[in-house]
Amino acid sequence: MINKGKTFVLQAPRGMHDILPADQKHWERIRRAVREVAAFYSFERIDTPIVEATELFVRSVGADTDIVSKEMYSFKTKGGDDLTLRPEGTAGVVRAYLERGMVSWPQPVKLYYLGPMFRHENPQRGRYRQLWQFGFEVIGEADPVIDAQIMQLITVVAAEVGLKNLMLKINSIGCPECRAAYRKALVQHYRPKVVKLCKDCRSRIKTSVLRLLDCKEETCTELRQTAPHGVDHLCSGCHGHFKAVLEFLDELNVSYYLDPFLVRGLDYYTRTVFEIFPEESGVTPGDATGSAALALGGGGRYDGLVELLGGKPTPAVGAACGMERWVELMQVREVRIPERNRPRVFLAQLGELAKKKSLKLLEDFRKAGVAVAESLGRESIKSQFRSAARLGVEFTLIMGQKETLDGTVIIREMNSGMQELVALEKVVAETKRRLAASRPAGMVRPPLATTDHDET
Ligand code: HAM
Repeated sequence: MINKGKTFVLQAPRGMHDILPADQKHWERIRRAVREVAAFYSFERIDTPIVEATELFVRSVGADTDIVSKEMYSFKTKGGDDLTLRPEGTAGVVRAYLERGMVSWPQPVKLYYLGPMFRHENPQRGRYRQLWQFGFEVIGEADPVIDAQIMQLITVVAAEVGLKNLMLKINSIGCPECRAAYRKALVQHYRPKVVKLCKDCRSRIKTSVLRLLDCKEETCTELRQTAPHGVDHLCSGCHGHFKAVLEFLDELNVSYYLDPFLVRGLDYYTRTVFEIFPEESGVTPGDATGSAALALGGGGRYDGLVELLGGKPTPAVGAACGMERWVELMQVREVRIPERNRPRVFLAQLGELAKKKSLKLLEDFRKAGVAVAESLGRESIKSQFRSAARLGVEFTLIMGQKETLDGTVIIREMNSGMQELVALEKVVAETKRRLAASRPAGMVRPPLATTDHDET
C-alpha cells in the first residue's frame, strides 16, 4: 500500500506480480510438463516451507554471494527466530533430506519442486522479487551420467512446452582442491590489473576471486578475456568427470557450449555448472552479452553441501528454472497451447424451477467427467446464448419452463441449429454420446483428475 497524501493506492509490492487468468494456461503448461517429466524419470515431489532459518542460506548459498549479502528478505519473528523468505530451493531440499531421514532411503533420492522464491533484486523485465522456480535435485549419486541427465531433463521439459532452440552453457569449476590452484592463477592474473577493476571486484579479489568472472562491469569483462580457464586447472578426478559429462551429453544429443568463465552466483557448486539461455539472446561463451542475458535456468553439482549442513559426504546435482522467464519466452515466441478441458457444452436455463434443476444436472455432468459451462446468474436466454456462442461450445442444453415441468431438456447442436428433446435422466448419457461422435480425430479428452486447476 502506497501512501500518496491522504489516499492509499493499493498495489502489489514492487517486483512482485499477479498471475492473471489470461496467463494461467502458460503456467499450467509448464507445471504439467514438469509433473509429467518428473514422473517419467522417477522424481518425487517435495514442498518445503517458504521461510527457512536465515543461517541455512548463509551457510549453503554463501555469505559473500549477492543473494545472501544483498537480496534476502530476512526478519526476526516475535519469538526471536531469524528467518528468511527462501531465495532458492536447493538449500531447503537438502535441509529436508537431512532432517526427514532421507539419508536412509534408497539412494539417490530424486526430488522435484515448484514454488515461489524471493530475491530483493532491482526489478526489471525478467527479473523479479518474487520469482517462481521449478527444480530437480538428485542427492546421493556421483556418477556424471546424472549431471547430463539433469541437463537433458530441462531440455525435455522445455521441448514439452514448445521451447526449442535453447543454448546450454557448461563449465566445470572443479573440487575444493583443484579450485585452490585455479584461484591462485586467477589472483595472479588480476593482481597487476587491480586498479582497472570495479570497486566490488577490487574487494572480491581477496575473498572470492572466482566471482570476478561473473562481473557485468565493462572493464571487468574486458580483463576476463585473457583470464586463465578453470578446466586447465582441474585435478584428474574432476577432469575425468567433466569429460564423461560431455560424452553423455553428446550421447543424449544435447548440444552445449563450453564456457570457461561460467561460475554461477551460489557458493555450493562443485565440478559441473551450467546455464540455459534462449538462442535469440545471442549468448556466446564467455562474452559480455552472455553474462547480462537472462538465463532460463541453471544448476550444477553440489557434492559438498550435504556435509556442509551436517550430513555425511554425499554427492548431489540439480537445476532450477525461472518460470516467469519461460512464460515470457513462450509468449514472445507465440507458442500455441492447446486448450485442455475446454467446455464443449453450455447449459442454459429459463425460470426459477429450471435454475434449481440445473444445479443438480451440473453435478451429474461433473460426476460423469463432462465439463459444462453455464451462467446461472443470467435470466435472459438471449444473453446465455451469447455466452455459449462466445465459448464456441458444440452443444447447448436448454431447460425452459415447459421442459423442466415435463422432465425433459433440449439439446441444440450449435453448428446446424438442430434441436432435439431428451428425457432429463438420459441427457448426460446422450450428451456424452454426441460429444464422442463429434470429437475431432486424434483428440483425447483428459480425465477430470488432471484438469488445469491444481495450485502448483
Ligand atoms: P539460480 O541460477 O540462482 O539457481 O536460479 C535459477 C533460475 O531462476 C535462473 O536461471 C532464472 O531463470 C531464475 N531466476 C533467478 N533469479 C530470478 C529473478 N530475480 N527473476 C526471475 N527469475 C529468476 C538456483 O536458484 C539454484 N538453486 C539452482 C540449482 C538447483 N542448483 C542445483 N540445484
